Amino acid sequence: MNKQTLAEFQEHLKKSRRIVALVGAGLSVSSGLPTFRGAEGLWKNFNMIDLATPDAFYIDPGLVWQFYSWRRYSALAAKPNRGHLALAKLSNLPQTNFITITQNVDGLSARSGHNSDNLYEIHGSLFTLKCTSFMCNYIEYNNFKAPLTPALRGTEHEFLKSSLDSESPEFSPVKQMKDSELPQCPVCKSSGTQSILRPGVVWFGESLPMQELNEIDDFLESEEGPVDLILVIGTSGTVYPANSYVDRVRLQGGKVAIFNTDIDESEIEGKDGVWGFKGDAAELLPVVLEPLIGEVKQP
Ligand code: OAD
Repeated sequence: MNKQTLAEFQEHLKKSRRIVALVGAGLSVSSGLPTFRGAEGLWKNFNMIDLATPDAFYIDPGLVWQFYSWRRYSALAAKPNRGHLALAKLSNLPQTNFITITQNVDGLSARSGHNSDNLYEIHGSLFTLKCTSFMCNYIEYNNFKAPLTPALRGTEHEFLKSSLDSESPEFSPVKQMKDSELPQCPVCKSSGTQSILRPGVVWFGESLPMQELNEIDDFLESEEGPVDLILVIGTSGTVYPANSYVDRVRLQGGKVAIFNTDIDESEIEGKDGVWGFKGDAAELLPVVLEPLIGEVKQP
């Protein structure tokens, strides 16, 4: 880590009264969860982005549920890392006005002890379930059951156990599933109809949660003054509106700090109010935020 960059950043950090963290999949990499767009952004040879769409669910809900069931298992097996804990500490400081906007659906920020009043999971959560019927608004939060149905048992393994020792392990086969084997809406069932539940995540082409976006807007436009700093953590910044928050903070005169394994620090170097920290966000955040949050212990 470049010492001058760190010193300049920390000087600004200590003066900052209003701070935003914009979080992406890179923050959870050291907890063992894959990113979307890296070479590892695959599940059984399917592109993860192709599976995160309403069309994919419409065509084959069983396939998409097997993918999400695997993601639920993976997230449950993962533990928040020191990067999550550093943000959680920042979120609980009384003197700093701070919000985290996370695009991650893995629930690790919530599980790290992040103050829930200033955590916005704008892409939803793997542990929220919603009814697919237009006539029903059933929604269930914090459902950590695994497997969700008997037919989804076994989805925790991406590969056949028997092939794990070989150089190219075989994927465990995707099952054909009937709707009746997928999670069912209890409200529809009690009124005599059958509707399946879906994961409470935002898919490509869907709207983001309006209330959360409004609250983020209120923070960004607050009369308390402009945002002084946005921490851009482990995100490729390819998805709207997440990517627009950086520009909005910069337009207010706020500075930007990027934490990513895939940047060229020498090109950034504090130019135009942007600092770059190249490396694992889980390791970088406890170090750079230390003047405000003190020491972050190993989880
Ligand atoms: P991406 O997979 O697009 O980007 C992950 C970023 O993390 C990349 O820029 C990597 O270089 C970086 N990275 C990888 N490992 C890292 C580490 N250990 N420390 C720091 N950085 C690291 O994931 P997101 O930007 O989160 O949306 O993707 C945004 C959204 O697009 C997702 O929420 C999802 C996706 O498709 C929906 O599903 C709606």
